[in-house]
Amino acid sequence: MSVTEAGATIWLTGLPSAGKTTIAYELAGRLREGGHRVEVLDGDEIREFLSAGLGFSREDRHTNVQRIGFVAELLAANGVKALVPVIAPYADSRAAVRKRHQSEGTAYLEVHVATPVEVCSVRDVKGLYAKQAAGEISGLTGVDDPYEAPDAPDLRIESHTQTVQESAASLLALLTERGLA
Ligand SMILES: Nc1ncnc2c1ncn2[C@@H]1O[C@H](COP(=O)(O)OP(=O)(O)OP(=O)(O)O)[C@@H](O)[C@H]1O
Ligand SMILES: [Mg+2]
Repeated sequence: MSVTEAGATIWLTGLPSAGKTTIAYELAGRLREGGHRVEVLDGDEIREFLSAGLGFSREDRHTNVQRIGFVAELLAANGVKALVPVIAPYADSRAAVRKRHQSEGTAYLEVHVATPVEVCSVRDVKGLYAKQAAGEISGLTGVDDPYEAPDAPDLRIESHTQTVQESAASLLALLTERGLA
């Protein structure tokens, strides 16, 4: 009989272009090399399927985060490292996901990819900051829509002062410290 590996949800919250997806995939690669089972639940893909039809109102953002949290918990409870690079702008939405994990006895780590908006808006991977500045869109998290930064994340990553590899290494160190990797 094999013993089920310790799963966990690792939620990377932060502004658009903060580096959540980039760091998550770097970590995913390292974990897979180490023989772990990994799933990345990325915001954009999820919005196409699991959260199709949801928009960007406070309520829809909350629903989106709860759905993703539900799936992540199921995966994590079955030995998967569920990496979730999703903005999740509201503290109460994130708290509800944490609570759900706690009540199921499933490990949950909150990581704040704390890249300042000035850096994110220069990176502007999807051109959203430029569109907002040009008045083509509104409701951009961290600019004209709220972002409630975590008060006490399990880890804060300063992506503007370290490389992607260093960020992934610090995450891996945290997982090791918690007995999860
Ligand atoms: N040190 C760094 N850490 C992370 N990303 C970096 C770093 N330096 C530069 N980048 C670049 O910043 C960009 C971050 O984009 P990424 O798609 O990962 O952001 P995101 O947080 O997932 O945004 P979104 O919420 O829009 O999906 C990438 O193009 C990445 O290569
Ligand atoms: Mg992303």
